[in-house]
Amino acid sequence: MLKTLEELERRRAAARLGGGQARIDAQHKKGRLTARERLDILLDPGSFEEYDMYVEHNCVDFGMAEQVIPGDGVVTGSGTINGRLVFVFSQDFTVFGGSLSERHAQKICKIMDMAMKVGAPVIGLNDSGGARIQEGVASLGGYAEVFQRNVLASGVVPQISLIMGPCAGGAVYSPAMTDFIFMVKDSSYMFVTGPDVVKTVTNEVVTQEDLGGAITHTTKSGVADLAMEDDVDALLRTRQFFDYLPLNNRSGAPFRPSGDDPRREEPSLDTLVPPFANKPYDMHELIAKVADDGEFFEVQPRHAANIITGFGRIEGHTVGFVANQPMVLAGVLDIASSKKAARFVRFCDAFSIPIVTFVDVPGFLPGVAQEHNGIIKNGAKLLFAYAEATVPKITVITRKAYGGAYDVMASKHLRGDLNYAWPTAEIAVMGAKGAVEIIFRGKSPEEIAARTAEYEARFANPFVAASKGFIDEVIMPHATRRRIAVGLQKLRTKTLENPWKKHDNIPL
Ligand code: HXC
Repeated sequence: MLKTLEELERRRAAARLGGGQARIDAQHKKGRLTARERLDILLDPGSFEEYDMYVEHNCVDFGMAEQVIPGDGVVTGSGTINGRLVFVFSQDFTVFGGSLSERHAQKICKIMDMAMKVGAPVIGLNDSGGARIQEGVASLGGYAEVFQRNVLASGVVPQISLIMGPCAGGAVYSPAMTDFIFMVKDSSYMFVTGPDVVKTVTNEVVTQEDLGGAITHTTKSGVADLAMEDDVDALLRTRQFFDYLPLNNRSGAPFRPSGDDPRREEPSLDTLVPPFANKPYDMHELIAKVADDGEFFEVQPRHAANIITGFGRIEGHTVGFVANQPMVLAGVLDIASSKKAARFVRFCDAFSIPIVTFVDVPGFLPGVAQEHNGIIKNGAKLLFAYAEATVPKITVITRKAYGGAYDVMASKHLRGDLNYAWPTAEIAVMGAKGAVEIIFRGKSPEEIAARTAEYEARFANPFVAASKGFIDEVIMPHATRRRIAVGLQKLRTKTLENPWKKHDNIPL
């Protein structure tokens, strides 16, 4: 018996060593942790239960029969984060560069299937040279099996991807279909084709970092949500982030009580909106003053910063905040911000997270580039997302709500449950000057000025909209947290269903 136990220990130790000490040292030298070290940080101590530690590849070509490493380049299993169940896979770069073989894919699929069965999120730690070159199409098939599960799991359990090394070629499409992507700065990259292929095909010269590093994807492309400082930062912040999310689409987000009084008043909000319509202010301040303990986990902070998206809590319950940001492009809606917010709103709706929207929007961004790149279809994404959402929706208009953007930003007409406005709100088709210049074209400057003042007096306030019932109440800015807290309490029992359909056809 003792001998059998010793044999088990020997096998376990061999599997834990992955591709061997030299490759582990090489991984450390690059500033990266190994697959197992990463899981140690991500999961609660002692909670990790590994599966398939002895799985081996089945390839015999190119000398592979002689190179067999137990586990086959990916560590899979389940564990907990702050006591809540999660399924994980962590690619082991020390084993064939973390490349994906048929069996490696089967291991990932197994935990994804389990996660869907029991209703728990999946977190994937990606660090891989892509398809196992020696296996050819078997590896491609493995990817497709993972992709299929990404799609089936979408909207059922949250899926989070951490990119902690290479992620190239078709391999990028698995993270792309997950809900959130976090990348590690200077250490990870994602691209469909690398710099060499780019040079051959388009003659463009670009570095890996510029083409698909963490900064590129969290600023320009918007493919990733956050750029983390290093492996440890990425893993610890993922733990923090996980706490905002429900385990699945049938369980609510975790309750994290706080001592922050839901009736707390914030007198400073009464002067947040400057007296001049063109002067910006930071919408983060409003979010921080409304959320429990001022805590806000922002996603995509550096991409399309004219709209803010992220999670906070009110009375201990997770809330998704969406807010126009007057500090960036005056908070205008453009292609990038519409797509960013639409995807966020859809995540919240899929996982029953109430949405609080703060509105200060001058409209959609005009311009040839916007039109030619499809602001019509892309702007419609956000409109569609808000309109189909059945979760509790509370909207507060702080200043401008102009034109189509007024409709889009969770207006009453899109089944907003509670639509509030501050007294500083201006709800109109457009700004007074622009409006008067159109309807009084050719009139003298004096008349234009007089008409502008008249237009402002008529529409630069929330009361016309309120008189029609489009605004439920004009509220004091200092009472915003209380209003939202009371509103969310009321809406906890909200039930609303869309008509039966196979699925909708959101303008993609
Ligand atoms: C098998 C691989 C591998 C792969 C790396 N290795 N990638 N083995 N299949 N795809 C092995 C190497 O042979 C090496 O083995 C070890 O992993 C580490 O690789 P190095 O090259 O020494 O590391 P590094 O210098 O850090 O470079 C990492 C890398 C490079 C940039 C990822 O390895 C690379 O370019 N690999 C090939 C990437 C690629 O073209 N993949 C296919 C993409 S197409 P030893 O024994 O020396 O340690 C694709 C299609 C997916 O993925 C389609 C889905 C639909």
